[in-house]
Amino acid sequence: MSPPHASKKHKVLKKISDKNDFRHKCYNLDDFQKLAKKILPKDLYEYLASGTDDEQTLLMNRSAFQSFYLRPRVMKPVGNISTATSLFGRQVSMPVYCSPAGVHALCEPKEGECATVRAFTNAGLMFGLSQHSTRSIEQVAAAISSPADKNLWFQAYILKDRGTTMKLIHRAIKAGYKGMFITVDSVRFGYREADARNGFNGLPKPHRLVNYDEVGKSTLEQTYNSHKEAAWDQNTEQMFEQNVSWKDIEVIKKELRKLDIPLVVKGIMVAEDAECAILAGADGIVVSNHGGRQLDGAQASIEALPEIARQVAGRIPIWLDGGVRRGTDVLKALALGASAVGIGKPFFFALAVGGEEAVAYMLHLLQTELEAAMCICGIDKISDITPHHVARLESSASRMLPNSARSFL
Ligand SMILES: Cc1cc2nc3c(=O)[nH]c(=O)nc-3n(C[C@H](O)[C@H](O)[C@H](O)COP(=O)(O)O)c2cc1C
Repeated sequence: MSPPHASKKHKVLKKISDKNDFRHKCYNLDDFQKLAKKILPKDLYEYLASGTDDEQTLLMNRSAFQSFYLRPRVMKPVGNISTATSLFGRQVSMPVYCSPAGVHALCEPKEGECATVRAFTNAGLMFGLSQHSTRSIEQVAAAISSPADKNLWFQAYILKDRGTTMKLIHRAIKAGYKGMFITVDSVRFGYREADARNGFNGLPKPHRLVNYDEVGKSTLEQTYNSHKEAAWDQNTEQMFEQNVSWKDIEVIKKELRKLDIPLVVKGIMVAEDAECAILAGADGIVVSNHGGRQLDGAQASIEALPEIARQVAGRIPIWLDGGVRRGTDVLKALALGASAVGIGKPFFFALAVGGEEAVAYMLHLLQTELEAAMCICGIDKISDITPHHVARLESSASRMLPNSARSFL
């Protein structure tokens, strides 16, 4: 059965393709959001787009990029520019990955996460699959050719039933996933007022959080897949462990170490927690406030990055997500100490606009922007991006130049 919004989506999409397709409507990532807003039913659009409480953090995630400006260097040879880099030893075409996020099928009912994974991996990019996906761990791996060569990662939450968390992780490893995100910012879900106002309660049928099917007919499966009055996020929340500690990360890391699978802690916003993550054995961290969907009033991710980068001091890679929409945002994040950035909401909107093809096109736009930004900044490879390429707005007047003119070259 098609979800309720399917007919509306197809009608609007038809109108768009009659005139022009998304290639003639979308010239940047925000354009996909504008178009998706016209296509999707209001409650679904707002579920995807909204933040918590007053949405301060959601808005700041985006606007805070303007607190930093780029410092272009000229007369640099950039004829052989490349955005390629490697993440945990695996080559990617640019330092941008798909942030793990649940329920892709809400925007692409036929293919769900299988459409997104193809778009990202065909573009040579890393893909993060959420535990709350609408296609299973195994289906997503099977959706791409030679998954062993592709950069698939799985994201798990720490559940009260730790056995289930580990089962999901082991399933992912068996299916060929190369690394694990453990999301640590969601012991409880933030209050998304838009969903309450819209009565967006429960995962619209026929969608299910399919990964729990394999777990068995446990209370978990019943709770996650139930269609009760409470929003499904509230249902899922009951299963999340609130009495967590860094010991949980140590335990998971111990298991992953044996299998040589990297563990990245997702949802770090302060230097103290970055240090704790390193002590617990994390191989990397993601500076993230869950795209403004958790604690409203938390800092923008890009604002939190400098203090965290100072603390980490190169010991482990730092990734960042939240509000990344432009090639220049990617460049700023890298100059401030990140080695990769994730994108979340934009791929949902692209999926709604045109499925796999639209996600691929969106990634093409972003890569073109990144390449142009690097080129005009005088940078021809990712490893040449340095903190000197970025500054805060207020610090420009007091910037001191290095003593030796030689170091300018
Ligand atoms: C609809 C939606 C579902 C999400 N689901 C998850 C999830 O299951 N696990 C997780 O760690 N993060 C989840 N996130 C957060 C993203 O991984 C990411 O942190 C965030 O979207 C990045 O910000 P951006 O949307 O501004 O790019 C979700 C985000 C959205 C928009």
